[in-house]
Amino acid sequence: MNMQRIIKSTNLISDIEKIVAEIKHDKLFVLTDEHTANLCLPLLDPWIAVKDVSRVVIPANDTNKTLENLAYIWKHLTQNGATRHSLLINLGGGMVTDIGGFAAATFKRGITYINIPTTLLGAVDAAVGGKTGINFEGFKNEIGAFYPAACVLISSRFFSSLGRKDILSGFSEMLKHALINSEAEWKKLLTFDAGDIDYEWLTDAVFRSVSIKEEIVKKDPFEHNIRKALNLGHTVGHAFESFALETERPVLHGYAVAWGLISELYLSHRVCGFPKEELQKTVRFIHRNYGAFALDCDDYEHLYDIMTHDKKNANASSVNFTLLSGVGDIQINRVAGKDLIFQSLDFYRDSVGL
Ligand code: GLY
Repeated sequence: MNMQRIIKSTNLISDIEKIVAEIKHDKLFVLTDEHTANLCLPLLDPWIAVKDVSRVVIPANDTNKTLENLAYIWKHLTQNGATRHSLLINLGGGMVTDIGGFAAATFKRGITYINIPTTLLGAVDAAVGGKTGINFEGFKNEIGAFYPAACVLISSRFFSSLGRKDILSGFSEMLKHALINSEAEWKKLLTFDAGDIDYEWLTDAVFRSVSIKEEIVKKDPFEHNIRKALNLGHTVGHAFESFALETERPVLHGYAVAWGLISELYLSHRVCGFPKEELQKTVRFIHRNYGAFALDCDDYEHLYDIMTHDKKNANASSVNFTLLSGVGDIQINRVAGKDLIFQSLDFYRDSVGL
């Protein structure tokens, strides 16, 4: 897999000009959703004004990461004369970079694309590492491909306009990166105050976080082994997220991951001896910042069913997890039985006061 360049943008216009000039292409396309078309694309106006850029706009939100919108992008590319040498720029959050990346992966067997993430979650996770895809038949990212952007341009100027919830949603992926990386990084992140954000501190933390992810992806781009570390918190987190959607009380991805981390650090404690003190400190941070997602013990069977469908599991009768034996000590391919998973859900409910 080609490696992608991650660029810390200090001047969006001149950085994009430079990158686009370096990538050989004929036609240029920019994909946004309805939100980023209004809120972010205008920042590129001075550049777009002098370029012949074809704009594609799709509806916002993860529920629109669909086959229909993928086909809409393909149609736009075809009808506007895109060739194998065209360049696509995805400007948006994870939804835009996921579907745009997959459109690029599949159009004429693959065209070059650039990601410009506009959310914290996108910058620290979705835009980086080459995973692209769409949701299908009610399952998140069911169809997709590993197909990295030629370049990811990260500009912190988008972060300051994000609301507290969107910051926290991205921050849980940063916390995950810190947990799989080192005690020092984890300690730094637990000092984060979402009520009084220091954007300079946050930007530095974002780039450290992206490097942690990059290092892992470099070692195992197709997730055969160590990249599974990035799934920490996501097996339970995805189950919470899908369940939330089904019960019509959708939650942000990063919130589901934060709550998933509570259960999975408990499993880490029980299965791999993850220390109690680190568990408690992390759980307190998550509860203080992310509150709770309500569930009761009658929901456990269904959550377990969702977990067994998770594509990271080898078969339907066991659930495969990435766990930790300590902060920075990754244990991939650990299996937990149903009873223990139910206990981890009890622990989650106790921890968040349900
Ligand atoms: N979001 C996890 C990964 O990129 O592997």
